[in-house]
Amino acid sequence: MKKTTKAQLSDMLSDCYAKALADHDIELAAEQIDPVLQLSRHADFQANAAMGLGKRFGIVPRELAAKALEYINAVDAIEQAEVAGPGFINMTLRNSFLSSELLRISKDDRLGAQAVEPKTIVVDYSSPNVAKEMHVGHLRSTVIGDACVCMLEWMGHKVIRRNHIGDWGTPFGMLIEHMYDQGEHASTKALSLGDLNSFYRAAREKFDSDETFQERARNRVVALQAGDEETMRSWNTLVDLSRKYFLDVYEKIDVRLDGTEFRGESTYNDKLQSVVDFLREKNLLETSDAAECMFLDGFKSRDDKPVPLIVQKSDGGFGYAATDLAALRERTEELKADRLLYVVGAPQRQHFEMLFAAGEKIGWLNDSNSAEHVAFGSVLGADGKMLASRSGVTIKLVELLDQAIERAAQTVAQKNPELSDEEQQDIAKAVGIGAVKYADLSVDKVSDYVFDFDKMLALEGNTAPYLQYANARINSVLKDQTVKANQIIELNHEAERELAITLLDFAEVAAEVEASLHFHRLAKYLFDLASAFSRFYSKCPILKAEDENTRNSRLALASLCGTTLQVGLSLLGIRTPKRM
Ligand code: ARG
Repeated sequence: MKKTTKAQLSDMLSDCYAKALADHDIELAAEQIDPVLQLSRHADFQANAAMGLGKRFGIVPRELAAKALEYINAVDAIEQAEVAGPGFINMTLRNSFLSSELLRISKDDRLGAQAVEPKTIVVDYSSPNVAKEMHVGHLRSTVIGDACVCMLEWMGHKVIRRNHIGDWGTPFGMLIEHMYDQGEHASTKALSLGDLNSFYRAAREKFDSDETFQERARNRVVALQAGDEETMRSWNTLVDLSRKYFLDVYEKIDVRLDGTEFRGESTYNDKLQSVVDFLREKNLLETSDAAECMFLDGFKSRDDKPVPLIVQKSDGGFGYAATDLAALRERTEELKADRLLYVVGAPQRQHFEMLFAAGEKIGWLNDSNSAEHVAFGSVLGADGKMLASRSGVTIKLVELLDQAIERAAQTVAQKNPELSDEEQQDIAKAVGIGAVKYADLSVDKVSDYVFDFDKMLALEGNTAPYLQYANARINSVLKDQTVKANQIIELNHEAERELAITLLDFAEVAAEVEASLHFHRLAKYLFDLASAFSRFYSKCPILKAEDENTRNSRLALASLCGTTLQVGLSLLGIRTPKRM
């Protein structure tokens, strides 16, 4: 399989630099030059290697560049090159090279993306908590996690999804007792309405103010942990109701979560003791304040005391860390994950650092695998404050999504009054949800972002609707037209060349994002692509092109652009309606 366009160019240029060095009696293999050679978009491309190499071997960079230029000008793919500045080389690529590369990627299902060595990747994402409303942090985790799944599967990996739902722990004592107080029927009704927060809050309030309730709640936790039949049945009712609610949200937000990947914390209950036994056997546990702990290098509190990873609490119970250790063991030893992703908000950074450090110490994490906390920042309201906090009584997630769809529906109705209600609704959903997802994915995920309907739904700017609209426009141009197989794309106009070079960059961007999970780079790329298309579209008539050949060539170019937009957005989990 051929390398990406940029990688091919890089190989050719490294070879030229190697020859130039040889003329200076320096032997350096092209492969050794490749890593120091960077190509940036300037002219068609700009190469920088003469600076680094010149410095290293004591040659004036401009001189070395001039020497390399002699060889570069002889390269077939390069039309013309010149030395610029302190030793850059600016190149214009030959149209015939670009055309043959375009043909190659248009015939490739994967648009020229390189085959990868398939890995087993576990993605832990969404992971809301039972009997609690999903908050905006879970929204981010769901959206980013879904993009990870789409991207990595498309790249050819085996992806195992895990929804690590918080479905166990002491709050269930009060929740179950509250359910009994309310009557199971009334509770079921309240919970199936998705009014999870008020249910939780009411239980909490009672717990905080009523001592006998507190006592009952405590006893209920003991019964739950002992597996008491009646208690388990009630617990199951709560969990089931929440699962239904989560699945409704997943369907609305159009992600690849259907319940098969639910692995609540309770899944690991019967594995926790064996984790403790195993760690004890390996001498990795220390007792501190009657709790069983792992002490890991480098984790200190503000007053310089070592912070333990609590594996078993002093009362014999297990917490969040224990469950994560059991899950880590399963993911590494049973699922044999090569790469583990945890898509969880930045506030849990320390938890994951400690979990991974523990995993390394135990040996579950080692040279053959890797674990990453895919952290993300908060979603802010227009006032710059958290849109919804862990305890905050703020906007409901579902209402947010409904509002996005509703707003999109207004635009769709204006633009496409001729479509049926059903079609309009389907497009509105793709656009509204797409806008929410894209707003999330188009900024560097570690930073916070402001949730702004007007901005995310705008048809102009770096938004999903802008990209979806570009695709829909291409689609309408291509309607009733045939794009010829093996059509050579000719690049006679500057706007055509720019679009072509951008298209050829897709494979490179995909590979970069696969490794870094910097989805905002893919978003930026797609925005640049749509902008390049827009310039091409306004400068180069397609259907009314001056001759048949130009028309066919432009149809093929537009079609490749449409495919790239569709694939690119699908990697972000975003749909591309045919019309808009
Ligand atoms: N349920 C947790 C929360 O809402 C997130 C769980 C993340 N996944 C994990 N393996 N710890 O904060």
